[in-house]
Amino acid sequence: MEHVLKDTDFLVSQTDSKGKILFANDDFCKIAGYTLDELIGKPHSIVRHPDMPKAAFKELWDTIKSGKIWTGYVKNGMKNGGFYWVYATVYPNIACGNGEGGYMSCRRKASVDEIKTVEALYKTLQ
Ligand SMILES: Cc1cc2nc3c(=O)[nH]c(=O)nc-3n(C[C@H](O)[C@H](O)[C@H](O)COP(=O)(O)O)c2cc1C
Repeated sequence: MEHVLKDTDFLVSQTDSKGKILFANDDFCKIAGYTLDELIGKPHSIVRHPDMPKAAFKELWDTIKSGKIWTGYVKNGMKNGGFYWVYATVYPNIACGNGEGGYMSCRRKASVDEIKTVEALYKTLQ
């Protein structure tokens, strides 16, 4: 079942250079349905939804590895089997963990219209 975000929801997570979760804020944990302890150290694909096309994540990784900011729409899975859509901005070279450059993603609610458009696009990429 879809969980629709509130306008004020703001989901933040930080990873190391390989996409291993180092931090997630309260909104991220609550909406995903995990405690922070369950998330830390796990690959970020723990919240991956099978409807997400591989091409979207390839573009994400190509962009952030080249030092640029990636923005895009992401459908994430919840621990309870539900899902939610976000508009994500992923920042490269965030100083976290081991002094190594990592990444940070900030997510806000995606609108019904945005979701409709992106859903149709992602179906063509599957
Ligand atoms: C900072 C950051 C945040 C990410 N957030 C998500 C996310 O919310 N959902 C997701 O499915 N993948 C996210 N990813 C991408 C995952 O690392 C992974 O590439 C993706 O889930 C696809 O899984 P796979 O690479 O095992 O195919 C994020 C990556 C980074 C660096």
